[in-house]
Amino acid sequence: MVRINENFLKLKAGYLFPEIARRVNAFADQNPSAEIIKLGIGDVTEPLPAAIVAAMHSAVDELASRDTFHGYGPEQGYSFLRDAIAEHDYKGRGVNVSADEIFVSDGSKCDTGNILDILGTGNRIAITDPVYPVYVDTNVMAGNTGEADADGRYGDLVYLPVTEENGFVPDLPTEPVDVIYLCYPNNPTGTVASRETLQQWVDYAKQHNSLILFDAAYEAFVSDDNVPRSIYEIEGAREVAIEFRSFSKNVGFTGVRCAFTVVPKDLKVKISSGDEVALHQLWNRRQSTKFNGASYVVQKGAAAAYSSEGREQMKQLIDFYMTNARLLREGLEAVGIRVFGGVNAPYVWLKTPNDLSSWEFFDLLLEKGHLVGTPGSGFGASGEGYFRLSAFNSRKNVEAAIERFKTAIG
Ligand code: MLT
Repeated sequence: MVRINENFLKLKAGYLFPEIARRVNAFADQNPSAEIIKLGIGDVTEPLPAAIVAAMHSAVDELASRDTFHGYGPEQGYSFLRDAIAEHDYKGRGVNVSADEIFVSDGSKCDTGNILDILGTGNRIAITDPVYPVYVDTNVMAGNTGEADADGRYGDLVYLPVTEENGFVPDLPTEPVDVIYLCYPNNPTGTVASRETLQQWVDYAKQHNSLILFDAAYEAFVSDDNVPRSIYEIEGAREVAIEFRSFSKNVGFTGVRCAFTVVPKDLKVKISSGDEVALHQLWNRRQSTKFNGASYVVQKGAAAAYSSEGREQMKQLIDFYMTNARLLREGLEAVGIRVFGGVNAPYVWLKTPNDLSSWEFFDLLLEKGHLVGTPGSGFGASGEGYFRLSAFNSRKNVEAAIERFKTAIG
């Protein structure tokens, strides 16, 4: 008899973004003339930077000729990309990460889920609440949680609320936890963590032999020099943290797919025999077995983001989206809405007006403004009464959305 992974049956409803798409499609079917503006999922809208397009074209041309053809690449990524990442994202910023600690992949969503392959069962997992739903759902799938309660909180998970009251900075857990997911700049709240906050977490992890899974997918949007972009800027982090980064948002690769995960060689975990095992070795083994590397063309494109032209074009793209974020913040504040985030991150987190629930506000915006955002409660129970807007859109749509907010809410 075939057995299925019955943990999947514990999952609540659908994954958040397909669920939103389902509701929006139903509305569009009933209102075919409505021009819906989507500020829901953080999906990029602007074309790829020219330097990246040129590099990808030339990589395709290489594949067209026997002499320059490439078949399987290294599972860990080509050294031209790993070297460029190490040089520009780490060494050039005074951060100690070497190229062979970088594992190139086809996305951070996959990596943050796949990392559970190398962890055992029975770990006590802490997540912030609200949170990027992938961390929760992949732990449910892996059997690290109990059933969900009426608020959608899973048994055995340790939820660390991030709310207006604590300035969106989670308190350290009151019970020991083994694995901690942190995402900064934060999705969904668009807020950031200070150096001091991250140092506290690293110290906590060292003291409790915990592992920090640090999602830095939005680091490129940080403009404040005091805000850390990498967990490895924090003393001791190499011994306790894995970092995830992505090309999805900084150079528009949501559809192209490329990301990387850093597993420092200093990161070791004591096993039952008392020996220490390096997680680098396990992740390398996992990737070599289950992954054949991101495509050559895509990696060539990603590497071009580090050329001087590429860096300049990437900066322009980021500035473009962050101007959208500023316009959204200002537009919302002008109609009396309390907003958070959106300064060092491409997400604006807002308090719903008139004590509306997150989904009530979603319906109101969709019906009255033909606008789509993401209900805060979809990211966790502590997100109830909040709402997320993504700054990834055309300027025309952002400007139109601000006008529509005024009519829908005013
Ligand atoms: C989001 O909207 O939270 C992101 O687009 C999701 C993702 O990056 O997978």
